Amino acid sequence: MNKVALYCRPGFEKECAAEITDKAGKKGIYGFARVKENSGYVLFECYQHDDADRLIREIPFGELIFARQMVVVGELLKNLPQEDRITPILGMLTGVIERAGELRVEVPDNDESKELMTFCRKFTVPLRNAMRQEKFLLAKESANRPVIHVLFIAPGCCYVGYSYSNNNSRFYMGIPRLKFPSDAPSRSTLKLEEAFHVFIPHDEWEERLGSGLYAVDLGACPGGWTYQLVRRGMIVHAVDNGLMADSLMDTGQVKHHRVDGFKFEPSVKNVYWLVCDMVEQPAKVAHLMTDWLVKSWCREAIFNLKLPMKKRYEEVAQILQKIEQQLKENGINAQIQAKHLYHDREEVTVHVRRIWSAYAMTRDF
Ligand SMILES: C[S@@+](CC[C@H](N)C(=O)[O-])C[C@H]1O[C@@H](n2cnc3c(N)ncnc32)[C@H](O)[C@@H]1O
Repeated sequence: MNKVALYCRPGFEKECAAEITDKAGKKGIYGFARVKENSGYVLFECYQHDDADRLIREIPFGELIFARQMVVVGELLKNLPQEDRITPILGMLTGVIERAGELRVEVPDNDESKELMTFCRKFTVPLRNAMRQEKFLLAKESANRPVIHVLFIAPGCCYVGYSYSNNNSRFYMGIPRLKFPSDAPSRSTLKLEEAFHVFIPHDEWEERLGSGLYAVDLGACPGGWTYQLVRRGMIVHAVDNGLMADSLMDTGQVKHHRVDGFKFEPSVKNVYWLVCDMVEQPAKVAHLMTDWLVKSWCREAIFNLKLPMKKRYEEVAQILQKIEQQLKENGINAQIQAKHLYHDREEVTVHVRRIWSAYAMTRDF
């Protein structure tokens, strides 16, 4: 198998392709990306046979911005016979993978695939049974073993392959399934919730997203992001000239500051989270976030960067590089991640966590 399938939001295949070509090239992995607009996936074909496996081991999945999932796949299986679709699929896996921990029968995230989803759900059960019988799959699901993916791109037409559970998205189709909380003041609440699922490991939620932490929400109104912080028991300074939902103000956990987010300064320096959803030029937002982190005004930040019209990957990569460079110049060691989330449209979501600061140790938490 010498191809890597990368799932992405439809319409962002070019960005996904530019990114994988760039990042694979930096690892000395060469190939070319096949792009079909609005398909919801990209195929990166490696020139060297073993390079697809090397790619999904060596490129940290968390560092990919536009890919929702990365899977090594073989040739496209076409015209699967209706009376036995299973045998050709198993054939693709022979000598490739055994005792995998999970099977995911998936489709790309595009409009045409909606009907195929119903088929995939039904097909999963007999396929899983057959895979277990032939020892491609363990009898019991395991999160520590590779994942088998069967990606249907049309009826009777699929790619078969695998991903590594320590370097993939743990979500089916690379999309966390979240339910809109009926009492949240805006739909964008799901953006911050998704960011927490994607960026913060679950076993660290209590420590990093727990009750009693202080947070600042810049561009907070009507309060979808604040809602996510409040429901976790945090105390929130909500900064915006607009109106905050009464339901949030009634909790007593929110202080509303009707001021410019670019000028707001926290009165006490005990803020753990800075979140920012102000619709502004990405470079300006990035500068503000870096400034907060350099001044040790917060420990972690999540913010959106609006995507430019052209060269979206290149521009975002440049901004992220600048954030990293400025933090480094100020002696701050940080983890920086960015993702085009399912709930993001023309923007990406960035997470920065200050790990330690050479110059401000005493003020660190
Ligand atoms: C996309 S909305 C935020 C939605 C919010 N995150 C939610 O989930 O409900 C952007 C908000 O940023 C605010 N905003 C834009 N520029 C701002 C600034 N310079 N200072 C403070 N707020 C600003 C707007 O008033 C608007 O309410």
